[in-house]
Amino acid sequence: MKNVIEPYKIKTLEPIYWTTREQRRQALKRAHLNLFFIPSKDVVIDLLTDSGTGAMSAKQWSALMQGDESYAGAKSFFIFEKAVQEITGFEFVVPTHQGRSAERILLHNFKSKGEYIVSNMLFDTTRANSEDFGFKVLDLPCSEFFADTEYHPFKGNIDLQALEKALREKSVALVVLTVTNNSGGGQPVSLQNITAVKKLCKKYSVPLALDACRFAENAWFIKQRESGFKEKTPSEIAKMMFEQVDMCFVSAKKDGLANIGGFICVREIALSANCKNRLVLAEGFPTYGGLAGRDLEAIAVGLKEALEESYLEHRINSTACFHQQLADSGIPLLSPAGGHAVYIDAKRFLPHLPVSAYPGQALAVALYEYAGIRGCEIGSVMFGKTLESGEKTYHSKELVRLCLPRRVYTQSHLHYTAQSIIDFYKKSANQLRGIKITKEAPCLRHFTSHFAWIE
Ligand code: F0G
Repeated sequence: MKNVIEPYKIKTLEPIYWTTREQRRQALKRAHLNLFFIPSKDVVIDLLTDSGTGAMSAKQWSALMQGDESYAGAKSFFIFEKAVQEITGFEFVVPTHQGRSAERILLHNFKSKGEYIVSNMLFDTTRANSEDFGFKVLDLPCSEFFADTEYHPFKGNIDLQALEKALREKSVALVVLTVTNNSGGGQPVSLQNITAVKKLCKKYSVPLALDACRFAENAWFIKQRESGFKEKTPSEIAKMMFEQVDMCFVSAKKDGLANIGGFICVREIALSANCKNRLVLAEGFPTYGGLAGRDLEAIAVGLKEALEESYLEHRINSTACFHQQLADSGIPLLSPAGGHAVYIDAKRFLPHLPVSAYPGQALAVALYEYAGIRGCEIGSVMFGKTLESGEKTYHSKELVRLCLPRRVYTQSHLHYTAQSIIDFYKKSANQLRGIKITKEAPCLRHFTSHFAWIE
């Protein structure tokens, strides 16, 4: 694997506080074994999410000082709008305070247009918002997606045959392609797949949206892995991705390299007007959409920096190197490495635990206790449910996602993390107990549930 050094120098420092295993055990007790309740000062390496956790560049910090905080018509909005238009090619841009509000505002427009939202795989907030509006959600990942240990360049692709069947037989309101597929290993979607989906959507007159949080990482994978794109820049490829779709919603907390923000892009003025009407109710006036002028400035710079080749090459390579170090020691992972995260397969890591003992959550909690590493369960806690009958449903995968914040950790931080996980796997994994849920919320339960170790 090519060794690529961090393409930046570090100017501002934030301390990492060491904690003992006993201190972390106490923190877990106070948090009811829910890692979302652990104060960040008690975390050594925080890989909970790549959302809003990135480091801003000197250029972004200086743009922040240019923020125009006028309620209406702020100069910062027009700078932001121009940057988004240039990158995506869309005419109408609606700012929001983060991705899930963009989803909610956009999805609201499709409420009477059909029964289903069909996707390669929706992220949890998109799924919860869709279900909240009464949609049924149909995830149709390609067959390669299910071969966890085998290499395929575009495991994020949607299954085109299954999609056509759904479009033919069901009442579909909207097709959403999530790039990259966050719930399924951070895997990319090829341009060929996006283009084919567009063709099918056109044939059945169903609109196509991109959940484009990680559009730059997806563009980089296309450049590296899809034939015919080697000579294209990430910006050119991203533009080609956006050209294929009717609309997109974006959390700027990922490839916007910002700590907060999001947006919707559409091609039709009527749809844009509807979105803005709801925006005013929920987020604010259309030239700030729940953000400060300075945030809009930071996003405008961040979106462009995220498309720089040196940045993307290092980013995707450091995820791959981290994945390789773990894989070389036999840690069961989803392969190949995703763009923003490495996903441990908890079912294979803890083969003695049944899914009813939530192996993903048990492993995430155990890694925090063992080494202060905070990952995130993506499994039956996140996607399972307790039905009204009391029956419990489980997800097909039990994963622990180790998500890499952008421009935050160095190779030595990742080396420490990998080594700690390898140590835990060799020394203690087979003694780990399972977990039970002791309190749960009706939706997005992973954020607020309480858990306990099974005796
Ligand atoms: N879509 C995808 C694919 C996401 O990964 C996220 C957030 C959202 C939408 C919602 O955006 O957080 O700005 O409201 N993902 C974060 C994560 C939370 O940890 O993966 P948001």
